[in-house]
Amino acid sequence: MKHFLSTEEISKEELEKLLVLAFEISKNPKKFKKALDDKIVATFFFEPSTRTRLSFESAILRVGAKVISTENANTSSSAAKSESIEDTARMLSGYADAFVMRNGDDDSAHRAARVSTIPVINGGSGSAQHPSQSLLDAFTIFKHKGRLDNLKICVLGDLKKGRTANSLVRLLSKFEGLQVFSFAPKGCEFNCEIPHTVVKSFDEIPHDVDVLYQTRFQRERHDGKNAVLPIIDKKVMERFSKDTLLLHPLPRNDEISTDVDDDPRALYFEQAHNGVFARMAILITLLGGKK
Ligand code: NCD
Repeated sequence: MKHFLSTEEISKEELEKLLVLAFEISKNPKKFKKALDDKIVATFFFEPSTRTRLSFESAILRVGAKVISTENANTSSSAAKSESIEDTARMLSGYADAFVMRNGDDDSAHRAARVSTIPVINGGSGSAQHPSQSLLDAFTIFKHKGRLDNLKICVLGDLKKGRTANSLVRLLSKFEGLQVFSFAPKGCEFNCEIPHTVVKSFDEIPHDVDVLYQTRFQRERHDGKNAVLPIIDKKVMERFSKDTLLLHPLPRNDEISTDVDDDPRALYFEQAHNGVFARMAILITLLGGKK
């Protein structure tokens, strides 16, 4: 694997290897503390981030590498002087051994990878892809379900402009027997070619669905009014089986009520923490770490 750009381009075998490594890391992270101790990794973020940038930087430090970082790249890097993504990637190729980039353009990671001489990791590209998020989502599902085959998942929220559900469904579609349901208001519909059943109410979602994957309204990617998203609260969760996992990439607004936070099926905070292991696995896989 040269870059980590989209869940479409990663094979099932590569995914399985990444997941096995992420599990090994999660059992004993200290074993990997020198894995990349001769490397420098850059993080270059044009869009806001809490989890992705900081968990990548934590992962970089936990594998013994060093980090150089630009946040608010639109204003604090030469992108403010109209430098292109391609020229930025050429520069980073001389300063680091790999870089993580987040940008609002759907094609940004691929544009960077076309000219980069070092591995490019997509930290979120427009409404299209967020592959490291999908890996940590899959890690969390596997940890709690013990399988990625024969999953029944319902993705909810802003499925049109949100990249996480898109990216995750594409990853899970590599495994056997996936059934996908989508529940989104008008203007936020799921326009993914992976077969899925559109539902219009919580009642239409099978009560034994394995995963409810809620997402927020992507206000910054829509013009005009907010859409009203399906809200998951304690009462809604009563409809679902004790084995239904509730995931959300975060940040949440009000689409998951805080009264659900102490439900054992609500995994979103653990999910975000799993991001460190998943990202350590991505870095070691791309940069070839020693133990
Ligand atoms: C997501 C993103 O950036 O796509 N956040 C994240 O990385 N966990 C979700 C979002 O912003 O809604």
